[in-house]
Amino acid sequence: MKVLIATEKPFAKEATDGIKEIFTKAGMETVLLEKYTDINDFHHAVADVDALIVRSDKVTAQTVDAAKNLKIVVRAGAGYDNLDLAACTARGIAAMNTPGQNSNAVAELAIGMMVYMARNSFHAGTGSELKGKKLGIHAYGNVGRLVAKIAQGFGMDVYAFDPYVAKETIEKDGVRVCASIDELYGTCHYVSLHIPATEQTKKSIGYRLLSKMPKGACVVNTARKEVIHEEELLNILEERADLKYISDIAPDIHATLQEKLGARYFSTPKKMGAETAEANVNAGLAAARQIVNFLTNGDTTFQVNK
Ligand code: 3PG
Repeated sequence: MKVLIATEKPFAKEATDGIKEIFTKAGMETVLLEKYTDINDFHHAVADVDALIVRSDKVTAQTVDAAKNLKIVVRAGAGYDNLDLAACTARGIAAMNTPGQNSNAVAELAIGMMVYMARNSFHAGTGSELKGKKLGIHAYGNVGRLVAKIAQGFGMDVYAFDPYVAKETIEKDGVRVCASIDELYGTCHYVSLHIPATEQTKKSIGYRLLSKMPKGACVVNTARKEVIHEEELLNILEERADLKYISDIAPDIHATLQEKLGARYFSTPKKMGAETAEANVNAGLAAARQIVNFLTNGDTTFQVNK
C-alpha cells in the first residue's frame, strides 16, 4: 500500500517523520510532495497511491480522476470544504477529517489577533483591554469552545450562538446562550467566527449582521474567507468608521480593504491558524492512524461521506 502526503503548505518535519513512522510500522510506503506549485505535479503523484493526506489542498473531481487506486483521503484538519465529496463518493473513496486535532492552535490565534487589534497593531497609541468586553462565539464547536475558555481567562464575558449545540452544553461552560444570531452580533464587542464554509454559510455574514454590532466592535475570522460577504463588509466598514475586521487568510478584496480601512483591517499573509508544530503533529498523526485503521480494519469513524 502506498500513501501520498500532498501539502502545498508543508507540515512541520516532526509531523512528517511521525506520519512516515506510522506507515512504515504498518508496512506501507510514504511519498511526500510538499510546496508544489503546479497542480499537475500533485495529480501525477496521486496516480498510483492507495491513500492521500492533504491540508487545505484542493481535492477536485480531476484529482479523483487522476487517482486511479485511491481508497481514502484524509484532510488533516477540521474544515473539509476543499474536498469534492460527491466525486469521492461516486468513486467509493472514503473522505475523512481529523476533528479537534488542530483546534487549540486556531483558538490561540483568534485570541492573539484580538489582542493585536485591541493594541493598535502593536503601534504607539492608546489601546484597549479584552477584560470586561463581550465576546460572541459564532458556532460552538471544537475551536469555539476553546476560544471561550481562553477568553474567560482574560476576563471577557462570553456569549455563543449555535443552533446545533444544546443550550445546557454551552451554559455549563459559563457561556451565555444567544437565542438568535442577531442577538449575538447585537450584543458583542468581538465576534469570533467558527462556522464551516457550506452552501448555507457562504457569504452569510454581511451588512445586516455587521450593522447591528456595538460601537467599536470587531469581527475575528479564523474560519473561512468564504463565509463573509466581502462587498457588504466593505460597505459597512466604510459607513461605520468604528468597526474592525481581522482575518486569518486574505479576503479576495484584500488590497481594497487595506487601502480603504487602514489599521481597522488586518489579515495574515497565509492561513496561520493551524500553523504550529503541535497542531501539525496532532492532525498529521491522527490522519495517518485513521488511514491505517481504515485500510486494515475498515474503521470509518471519521468518514464524512458515509
Ligand atoms: C482547518 O480547517 O483545519 C484549518 O483551517 C487548517 O487548515 P490548514 O491545514 O490549511 O492550515
